[in-house]
Amino acid sequence: MSVWKHHAKFERHSLLLIVGILVVVSIGGLVEIAPLFWLQSTIEKVNGMRPYTPLELAGRDIYVREGCYLCHSQMIRPLRDEVERYGHYSLAAESMYDHPFQWGSKRTGPDLARVGGKYSDSWHRDHMTDPRSVVPESVMPPYKFLAEKELDYSDIADKMQTLHTVGVPYTKDQIASAKKDLEAQADPFSTDAVGLRGRYGTKVVNRDFDGNPDKITEMDAAIAYLQMLGTLVDFKSYKAQAPENQR
Ligand code: HEC
Repeated sequence: MSVWKHHAKFERHSLLLIVGILVVVSIGGLVEIAPLFWLQSTIEKVNGMRPYTPLELAGRDIYVREGCYLCHSQMIRPLRDEVERYGHYSLAAESMYDHPFQWGSKRTGPDLARVGGKYSDSWHRDHMTDPRSVVPESVMPPYKFLAEKELDYSDIADKMQTLHTVGVPYTKDQIASAKKDLEAQADPFSTDAVGLRGRYGTKVVNRDFDGNPDKITEMDAAIAYLQMLGTLVDFKSYKAQAPENQR
């Protein structure tokens, strides 16, 4: 009897077919899911990754609140067209401190995973205030109010404490200095910037992101966040552990 005849038996008995499907699906499930219980971590460690500074974290919250992820993804896939347009494909480690992650699946606008450093702070300010003033054909909505609204960071230390509970390695010192660090990063003349860099690394720059020295606005936080995206990992020293299967 040929194999196909056996198959005919399954096709004629719906119950047998269901059992057969369940067996096949559970084999697939076991192969994919079971190893995860024995692996310590599926995230490859890379140099440079650090939790967000308080100002970046506040900016990330604005990004989530405003639904920027509805039009922008933050995941560069390992495909040639993406890598040539946006830069190195995204690594798992790059979103390991994101709760929730911002990978997204909708790209009305470009991917933002490596937008940090691509434009100046003032470009971002002009772009978010009125996107069409810098990109005439843009369909992005304006977020002018971010530049007017003062940033409420009264709960920033609590937010960091909460993230710590879900595994983000904020230290006690970082949580205790949250407000001071946030203010220091938004002030180009801050004397606390040394402490900020001591806690988050020498690459952190303190400056007036929105160009308004009078107050810390939501625009300051949003730009600080955007300018950090994709800049943490040093790709000159990075070597993928797995065989290079890009492109
Ligand atoms: C309705 C869809 C939509 C929403 C919502 C949206 N954007 Fe955009 N965004 C776009 C489009 C389209 C572009 C490309 C044209 C342009 O540069 O304005 C863009 C471009 C950008 C760029 C420039 C990217 C590059 O590499 O040139 C940045 C940065 C950006 N958006 C940030 C944001 C932020 C931050 C938010 C939320 C506060 C946001 N966007 C919300 C559609 C959107």
